Amino acid sequence: MNYWQEEIETLPHEQLRNYQLKKLRETVSRAGLSPFYRELFRRHGLQADSLGSIEDIRKFPFTCKNDLREQYPFGLLTVSTDETIRMHCTSGTTGNPVAVLHSRKDLHSWANLVARSLFAAGTRHTDIFQNSSGYGLFTGGLGFQNGAEMLGCLAIPAGAGNSRRQIKIMQDFGTTCLHAVPSYLGRLHSVFAELGLDPIRDTRLKRLFIGAEPHSEETRQRIQNLYGCKAFNSFGMTEMNGPGVAFECEYQNGMHLWEDCYLVEIVHPETLEPVPDGEVGELVLTTLDREAMPIIRYRTRDLTRILPGTCPCGRSSCRIDRITGRSDDMFIIKGCNVFPIQIERILMRINEIGSDYLIVLDSNEEGDFMMIQAELKSDSFSDEFKKLEGLRKKIASEVRDEVQVTPVVQLVAPDSLPKTDGKAVRVKDLRKN
Ligand code: COA
Ligand code: AMP
Ligand code: ZN
Repeated sequence: MNYWQEEIETLPHEQLRNYQLKKLRETVSRAGLSPFYRELFRRHGLQADSLGSIEDIRKFPFTCKNDLREQYPFGLLTVSTDETIRMHCTSGTTGNPVAVLHSRKDLHSWANLVARSLFAAGTRHTDIFQNSSGYGLFTGGLGFQNGAEMLGCLAIPAGAGNSRRQIKIMQDFGTTCLHAVPSYLGRLHSVFAELGLDPIRDTRLKRLFIGAEPHSEETRQRIQNLYGCKAFNSFGMTEMNGPGVAFECEYQNGMHLWEDCYLVEIVHPETLEPVPDGEVGELVLTTLDREAMPIIRYRTRDLTRILPGTCPCGRSSCRIDRITGRSDDMFIIKGCNVFPIQIERILMRINEIGSDYLIVLDSNEEGDFMMIQAELKSDSFSDEFKKLEGLRKKIASEVRDEVQVTPVVQLVAPDSLPKTDGKAVRVKDLRKN
């Protein structure tokens, strides 16, 4: 099947803007059907007619993660729940999760974007696509699955973990494309080595799709060398569907952001004013093709910039640079989003724990890991390993339930963690990415 939708993907700039304006007006009208936006627009005296040009989007207030949490679960819905057929949740929250509901049309549009993305990177219906994302609430599971199926690939929902089985499937079914979180590919490679195998010699892999967590060009190069094929950067987030928001094409020169479905702004994270073209700022996105739950001016908190110039592939949508960081304190470990406050809440509920803690992110031959160092209160401190074992297990299990990642827990003596004069440092990231 051909997922090079030329008429839309190569629209000349001016026509693309006109198309976006039309879609934006429809989106604003539609959003006004939801309790949240109806009230917001009423308060600000806004409606679809307020949009004389694309730039008028700036009259509209931003939507933040907090708004979505407050409106959980149905406050942004423009249709009745009878018309929705899928729900996904973000993996990192500070209280209520962020839930996104999709209508049938939404799921079709999302799968179409993923199919287009995979196609742009050279994938065809003859490819065998294996997905090592977590299925369930993570969007990387079903999101890639539906997109790869729409493209016509044999799509294998291998899911996260179980590396030996991943490798067996790759060999038995001749997997040609693999989607994985970049940090997992290091771990997977060591399992290949343990089995006396080499992915370059012993698989048919032609293409990797890597995303869901920040990584450098050097990490991409290392992955490409280990697997002997190209690794394409894939960007998305649950609030904007999931994967398929921005994706690298065969030229690997930044990620095409599908502007027929998203309106892009880059703003200064503090002033929230637009930054000059090409400068790094916070990515703000408006959905242009969502039925059940349109979102206007969503502050993604991801930092990036729009790359100058055009791409030789002919696609006219803008390209964004790899994500260089966040404008909040969320971090991502093993593909799971974590806010330090989620860990803090767990620790502070436990009587034996004092007020200081440190989250250390690091990696070893098994891959990335998260270590939580927590100071004990003086009357709870003990040198005896056994006495503290139960407490360590309890913390590890509560953290695992909260953020989907099992931490290494170290309970340390009172006042033993380094103290700072200013703002407490809660996260130390020693990973090389
Ligand atoms: N993706 C896929 N598998 C991963 C992974 C990742 N990011 N990180 C680790 N794993 C593998 C491990 O290698 C291990 O398998 P193996 O021993 O057969 O090699 C298995 O998952 C369990 O890892 P472990 O570190 O012991 O467990 P954990 O409890 O800390 O983490 C995960 C559990 C990995 C299952 C959980 O973090 C997860 O689901 N991550 C994937 C998130 C994802 O798909 N994100 C994409 C969002 S779009
Ligand atoms: P989730 O909603 O759980 O899919 O997480 C979305 C977040 O993951 C984004 O807001 C980014 O912070 C991060 N993310 C997704 N894709 C990438 C990528 N390719 N590079 C860097 N960070 C990414
Ligand atoms: Zn291109």
